[in-house]
Amino acid sequence: MSQQVKAVVALAKGAPVEVVTINVPDPGPGEAVVKVLSCGVCHTDLHYREGGINDDFPFLLGHEASGIVEAVGPDVTGVAPGDFVVLNWRAVCGECRACRRGEAQYCFNTHNATQRMTLAEGEGAGTELSPALGIGAFAEKTLVAAGQCTKVDPKARPAAVGLLGCGVMAGIGAAINTGAVGRGRSIAVIGCGGVGVAAIAGAALAGASPIIAVDIDAKKLAKAKEMGATHTVDSSRVDPVEEIKRICGETYEGAEGADVVVEAVGRPETWKQAFYARDLAGTVVLVGVPTPDMKVPEIPLIDVFGRGGALKSSWYGDCLPSRDFPMLVDLYQQGRLDLDAFVTEEIGIGDIEAAFEKMHHGDVLRSVVIL
Ligand code: APR
Ligand code: ZN
Ligand code: ZN
Repeated sequence: MSQQVKAVVALAKGAPVEVVTINVPDPGPGEAVVKVLSCGVCHTDLHYREGGINDDFPFLLGHEASGIVEAVGPDVTGVAPGDFVVLNWRAVCGECRACRRGEAQYCFNTHNATQRMTLAEGEGAGTELSPALGIGAFAEKTLVAAGQCTKVDPKARPAAVGLLGCGVMAGIGAAINTGAVGRGRSIAVIGCGGVGVAAIAGAALAGASPIIAVDIDAKKLAKAKEMGATHTVDSSRVDPVEEIKRICGETYEGAEGADVVVEAVGRPETWKQAFYARDLAGTVVLVGVPTPDMKVPEIPLIDVFGRGGALKSSWYGDCLPSRDFPMLVDLYQQGRLDLDAFVTEEIGIGDIEAAFEKMHHGDVLRSVVIL
């Protein structure tokens, strides 16, 4: 059996997305059907539509979502119908080397639903859909692996906590999990879009100081300040490396940069800035996603050796959804993490093209579809 629901699909490379009817199968073993309540619009959805991820059209877009579990497969015990969940795109296996050594956040064998949702109408009826990041939540209902459903406090606002499913978690985790900032540590964040601002909020939550926001757009810097940045640097006007060094040196005598520099743009030149803006033994965290043509910038190897420290990348904020989502939702509920600030607007299922358009202008942290 399956049921039919409305959903947003990218049918062909570069073509505007369309609201169509799709078939959602009943959950099989290890699967769950979720009634979606909210889903944020992320750059990755646009990348799928533009064919920048792969060519497996048609794509069922949407992946930063919250919802209510409607039904589960026969063997599912972790979640039950009625549970309020945030969807994650790294359901861990529990059996690979990473999982066995207690580092499930690095699971090498994450999984999605086995069955496929399909188009229900038009010439392509029956065509299997490729769900974005294995989720596909710009839909009234979606089929996922049960492990992609993380239970959180049902009293929380869906539009806000659903954002933990992708970009906001990536940013917070880049600062807290990968960078391991905390009291007595300084941080600089290069690039203050949704991901960078989340890194700033995470650093503030963890007690880091100073928290230096770097961007080429003054509007982004104003938002970063609201979210906890103690200093802002407009890198279209001044050298961000020198500024970060100066600010950190004012706070901590002898500091030659920040303890942690998060790169949240995904470009060689900003990664190079991050490399040189960190203190001796400091950590660079690359959370921005480069394109395949980009290369590590040329840096004397002696500088890599001589400065010590760590050059890391952060996938999904090195999060473990079952550990991090409920904890961050609780902090949100206590008023200690302002997830509402990331929700710039609530929109309908038919407004996604307009939301893609707004992303280019930089006025929006997140447009969130309410279903
Ligand atoms: N120096 C500093 N900031 C820059 C530069 C630069 N050279 N170029 C762009 N930026 C800023 C933009 O002004 C913007 O504020 O980087 C920010 C990027 O933000 P968004 O486009 O909103 O992207 P976001 O959703 O935050 O994602 C950032 O992380 O997950 C990845 O794929 C994602 O690579 C992307 C990155
Ligand atoms: Zn695993
Ligand atoms: Zn995303």
